[in-house]
Amino acid sequence: MRRFPDGFRWGTATSAHQVEGCNRHNDWWVFEQLPGRIYGGHRSGRACDWWRHAEADFDRMVELHLNAHRLSVEWSRLEPEPGRVDEGAVQRYRQMLQGLRSRGVEPMVTLHHFTLPLWVARRGGWENPAVVGWFRTHARRCAEWFGDLVDLWVTVNEPNLVVVLGYLQGRHPPEVRNPWRARRAARHLLLAHAAAYHALHEVQPHARVGVAHHLRPMDPERVRHPLDRWTARWHGEWFNWMWLDALHGSTPRGGFRPWGTEECAGTLDFVGVNYYTRDRVRFSPWAVHAALGLHRPTRGAPVSDFQYGEIYPEGLRRVLEEAWRRYRRPLWVTENGLPDAEDRWRPRFLLDHLEALHRTLAQGVPVLGYYHWSLVDNFEWTEGWRMKFGLVAVDPASQRRQARPSATVYAQVCAANALPDP
Ligand code: FCB
Repeated sequence: MRRFPDGFRWGTATSAHQVEGCNRHNDWWVFEQLPGRIYGGHRSGRACDWWRHAEADFDRMVELHLNAHRLSVEWSRLEPEPGRVDEGAVQRYRQMLQGLRSRGVEPMVTLHHFTLPLWVARRGGWENPAVVGWFRTHARRCAEWFGDLVDLWVTVNEPNLVVVLGYLQGRHPPEVRNPWRARRAARHLLLAHAAAYHALHEVQPHARVGVAHHLRPMDPERVRHPLDRWTARWHGEWFNWMWLDALHGSTPRGGFRPWGTEECAGTLDFVGVNYYTRDRVRFSPWAVHAALGLHRPTRGAPVSDFQYGEIYPEGLRRVLEEAWRRYRRPLWVTENGLPDAEDRWRPRFLLDHLEALHRTLAQGVPVLGYYHWSLVDNFEWTEGWRMKFGLVAVDPASQRRQARPSATVYAQVCAANALPDP
């Protein structure tokens, strides 16, 4: 048996909009109603009905021997209009957090996971400098409301993807494709993180606060080609590291620094790593809108449903070791998973990634826990309901659940705090 350290956290991850249902007061709800935005015209709708019945899935966590779960609170529920707090929503989140605690499941809470309250979005969202103060208030209140139940906080989920998808590629709200506006949004996201970091610590000095950052190795498609190597390197610095460099306060190696974020330095108690796949990068002078680099999976490698990405367990070790080398902060795997409706790859995927994680720990890298994305199939943003990331399958129409075989595989690891012998 390959054991994990005592007290290692085994969990799953979800986000509010993807599982709660009926989050009507945020930008995604409105976006989903527009034609052509979401695969097949799908909508989040009732989602996994967590706002009413999350506890049924919390019971499943117990069956899976989980001792941790990462979830997000929906800002637009807590503050549906500027300054107006919905006490009912506060109480429901308290009930959910207590529900996790009473089942021996430690919560990690994310304050922003892709959705913005409509009132924030309509005032310019991440482009408006005032968002920094609004987010600070949101963070401070969450610490006051939930601080007796939570001390592990993620401020922002995947700031790099918020900017790339929302402000460069225009595939997520607010559908902007403009590098100058993207730069502005990036700056405010980082400043908002820092503001929230300090606000959480003011209320709760022992809080542990970080980001959940999407990291993906970028390797040259033609391994010896100087232009592919150069493009892969600078795309990696920009997409992966620039953000964490700014929050850590290290000199960015790629020379990138979102201007005006010096005050963000020193605001990471831990680094959360969302790891899914790696990209092969090929230089192309024609790919002006993709910063001169085409990204694809490694040719011939196994890929998950809908070409989501190469299945590459070694990448998890690589990004964790690099994050440790650069920042010397404790690490969490805040997301890792794949879309695989038939569960063809997931059992192996899980064991191979956990094996890579085990080797990383053996190198002395302090990883404190692993959250699989996700417990249940849920509303996968623009992919709607077609991408199935759950250990447990969900039919959104009937709300019926059916555990996939990989749920048993994961449960055995969690119960033993060890990987089975190969
Ligand atoms: C991550 C997101 C998460 C989910 C997974 C599949 O980028 O943080 O909400 O969509 O991808």
